[in-house]
Amino acid sequence: MCGIVAYIGRRPALPVLLEGLKRLEYRGYDSAGLAVLNGGLKVAKAVGRVAVLEDLVNRQGGFDATMGVAHTRWATHGGVTEKNAHPHRDDATLGHGVVVIHNGIIENYATLKRYLEEKGHVFTSETDTEVLAHLIGELYRGDLERAVQSALREVTGAYAIAVMCAKEPDVMVVARKGSPLMVGVGKDEYVVASDSSAIVAHTTQAITLDDYTVARITRDSFRTTTVDNVPVTAEIRELEYDLGQIDLGAFDHYMLKEIHEQPNALRLCMKGRLDLRSGQIVLGGVSEFARELARAKRVIFVGQGTALHAGMVAEYLMEDLAKIPTDVDFASEFRYRNPMVEEGTVVVAISQSGETADTLAALQEAKQRGALALGLVNVVGSSISRETDAGVYLRVGPEIGVASTKAFLGQVCVATMLAAFVGRRRFLSADAVRELMEQMERVPSHIERILAQSEEIKRATARYVERDNWLFLGRGYNYPVALEGALKLKEISYIHAEGMPAAEMKHGPIALIDEGMPVVFVATRNSQYEKILSNIEEVRSRGGHVIAVATEGDEEIRRHVQEVFWVPDVPEPLQPLLTVVPLQLLAYHAALMRGRDVDKPRNLAKSVTVE
Ligand code: F6R
Repeated sequence: MCGIVAYIGRRPALPVLLEGLKRLEYRGYDSAGLAVLNGGLKVAKAVGRVAVLEDLVNRQGGFDATMGVAHTRWATHGGVTEKNAHPHRDDATLGHGVVVIHNGIIENYATLKRYLEEKGHVFTSETDTEVLAHLIGELYRGDLERAVQSALREVTGAYAIAVMCAKEPDVMVVARKGSPLMVGVGKDEYVVASDSSAIVAHTTQAITLDDYTVARITRDSFRTTTVDNVPVTAEIRELEYDLGQIDLGAFDHYMLKEIHEQPNALRLCMKGRLDLRSGQIVLGGVSEFARELARAKRVIFVGQGTALHAGMVAEYLMEDLAKIPTDVDFASEFRYRNPMVEEGTVVVAISQSGETADTLAALQEAKQRGALALGLVNVVGSSISRETDAGVYLRVGPEIGVASTKAFLGQVCVATMLAAFVGRRRFLSADAVRELMEQMERVPSHIERILAQSEEIKRATARYVERDNWLFLGRGYNYPVALEGALKLKEISYIHAEGMPAAEMKHGPIALIDEGMPVVFVATRNSQYEKILSNIEEVRSRGGHVIAVATEGDEEIRRHVQEVFWVPDVPEPLQPLLTVVPLQLLAYHAALMRGRDVDKPRNLAKSVTVE
């Protein structure tokens, strides 16, 4: 989604801004722009990649300054045009040289725009952000901080903004509500960004702004207030990752790098949390609520996309291991459908970024209704993690590829630990948990074995990559994996793919199957193996070509299918941690063969911070 970088210090701002924008490219965007302030304002905007903007500013010249703001835009209000790209300025004649970059949505922008138009303001774009820039200009009385505070009091919606004003060449004002924003604190300099990847090259000390906080920054001072001008304290914390983690290294794409990082990511995720001696799962983040969890009457997992699929696995895990009635819901549906939240309900938000707008809102709704609100989140200090009563971090490291891979494994792994943590306090014996933990510890090396099949998976994928329709089928724990396999394929290769429970196929979708249609079955040895073999036969007899993910050593399945990707044998609750991996590789290879930009698929944003 949109990205923000801003700099105020003593070094040239332009390289910091451009490098920051490149770091934010992974979030997804369609245009970019920047402004520097040095005597006057100098603005440049371009549709397309940051490289186009870079080329433009280099050709134009005159961008020497030690403060500036820059933005990547993912269109919400108005088409993808240079005019709609940020930064936006206040009114050309009535204004004061205010310039704004903004992430989020100003919901009451139409009302504000009418009000400003009546005062004679003329707008040049279709965006809500330009309205905010004009409003700040309208309220400006010689103090930018005050003008921003006053404007934000009039605004409903979500925002992270950075603002400069030609009349105050040493001041930058930034603020947030509902969209992430952090301020990196260096020596005599500040780097503001919507995500720490644009900051870590300069400093690892950063302040994550709270909602409704406004920060006034000069080269040697920093203060934070509320929008009502009440001083608030801001805490500096150490950012947890370094540049090495967000560089590509020897890999061609972040997605491939992150698929290969999965064994170590899981090792980190489990580190210190599996106590084999005592047969206990150690989850410091939720231990304070262990009693509530053990007595919970219902658990509801909420998330979107891949995180929702992890939630679906979590539903099976929670009912299987902890024996608590469990549901899973799209966060976007949960928040608007007047959900039943009775006493003893625990709502668990699952999110890699911790910034997904619908998931955050669902969690807030659940809290309002009295639920215990937990989070399984990757990004430390993110909005969702701050909103929860307690939670467990995934600890899988930064995920840059737009297609979620290692975060899914982290989400499922943490959900497994959470279910066993609760189960141990209900019906699970120490031996049963110990046995599960021993098996979990072997999962990373099992994944390494699967990754070694990448070339075979690539060859098999090549045989079907020209086909435009695919089905992904699974049962039980492997049903969410089938959904995830289909999502991976469609989002990065743009091949149409549908996932569903294998049994559902007979109720309609079987009509799609024709000669040579690729149908992927997640068909490991488990309680539903015989049934899935029957489903495979149903597809074969209609001419479909079956690609199976199967358990190593299963000679039987070879006779039924065209292609097999092997995964080591593990207990059923742990199978999703393995069966998803060949499907990630399949999607990756298919996308490359179709010439797609794997890390920046069209129309997609890494973090969906609007509804
Ligand atoms: C798919 C994907 C998305 C995200 C979804 C939720 O590969 O990445 O479906 O899973 O947008 O994002 P988070 O987990 O950040 O809440």
